[in-house]
Amino acid sequence: MPLLLEIKDLVTVFDTVRGRIKAVDGVSLKVNSGETLGIVGESGCGKTMLSLSIMRLVPANGRIINGEILFSGSDLLKLSEDEMRGRRGSEISMIFQEPMTSLNPVFRVGEQIAEAIRLHQNLPAKKAMELSVELLSEVGITDPQKRARDYPHNLSGGMRQRVMIAMAMSCHPRLLLADEPTTALDVTIQAQILDLISELKQKNDMAVVLITHDLGVIAQAAEKVAVMYAGKIVESASVEAMFANPLHPYTQGLLESVPARCVESSERGKYLKTIPGSVPDLYDVSSGCRFYERCSYAVEECAQKEPTLSEIEPGHFVSCRKYGGKKNN
Ligand SMILES: Nc1ncnc2c1ncn2[C@@H]1O[C@H](COP(=O)(O)OP(=O)(O)O)[C@@H](O)[C@H]1O
Ligand SMILES: [Mg+2]
Repeated sequence: MPLLLEIKDLVTVFDTVRGRIKAVDGVSLKVNSGETLGIVGESGCGKTMLSLSIMRLVPANGRIINGEILFSGSDLLKLSEDEMRGRRGSEISMIFQEPMTSLNPVFRVGEQIAEAIRLHQNLPAKKAMELSVELLSEVGITDPQKRARDYPHNLSGGMRQRVMIAMAMSCHPRLLLADEPTTALDVTIQAQILDLISELKQKNDMAVVLITHDLGVIAQAAEKVAVMYAGKIVESASVEAMFANPLHPYTQGLLESVPARCVESSERGKYLKTIPGSVPDLYDVSSGCRFYERCSYAVEECAQKEPTLSEIEPGHFVSCRKYGGKKNN
């Protein structure tokens, strides 16, 4: 599969009165066409800032200060604001956790999708409206003609997320960034939305970056996974390899705190653990491993020296002193 997105050493910061926050701290990753990369980590790890950086929609008080975001080989960070606006929606689309914040409450959903279409394609309103209804049907909304005339508040959470997906798909993007798209939904609806994203991905040969705090979502819908902690990728692998052989103590902790529905039946009933402590604030101060304080394997060296990502098995990368020496063996 050809490489679609390659991020190299991306750093996104917020300069605040208390100092510099590194929300994204040297992230590198690759996404192939037609593939789903899951990004998982607890709240506050920088997942949303990473996706907003890719869209170049970092909040006004934030800044990308380093790195490259190569999309089909060209660096998005070098485009003018106009050029970037052209890419958004048409080549890269994004959906969020709470569709209500992105949908306009005073317009009918069909009109809003039609508007999104007309933003990138010069079509008469009537034609755009027809496409809008088609899209609603494509995302699994029954009676789309009628639903198109509904306002967002007439729809359930799952339906609203389908509308957002329809809008995101309106210009056939090659990459969909989905930031916690199912977090606000109950488990059954969550599964349906993830299935819909997978189906659209296959049908349109689209790549997906699926951001979540929930490893169950990763297990269900991603092929590769990157674990993010305190602004950094600490482990990345195929989903299979990550679940079979999690290497980073943080990944192991995340796996141990996954509810039984996502775990092998033989493992069920095991005590559900939580990782002690919480994600540190991301002020740019510490020198050692960011997971040090919460890690049961930590030794003195971990507080001093920051580990780097090394490839332990082909395609399986981890950033932890425990494996540091194995790289060249
Ligand atoms: N607008 C902002 N101003 C200052 N700091 C912010 C802002 N938004 C996010 N951050 C910082 O960036 C970090 C990462 O946030 P975010 O990307 O939203 O995490 P996640 O999506 O993984 O929960 C947060 O811990 C916070 O300190
Ligand atoms: Mg987030």
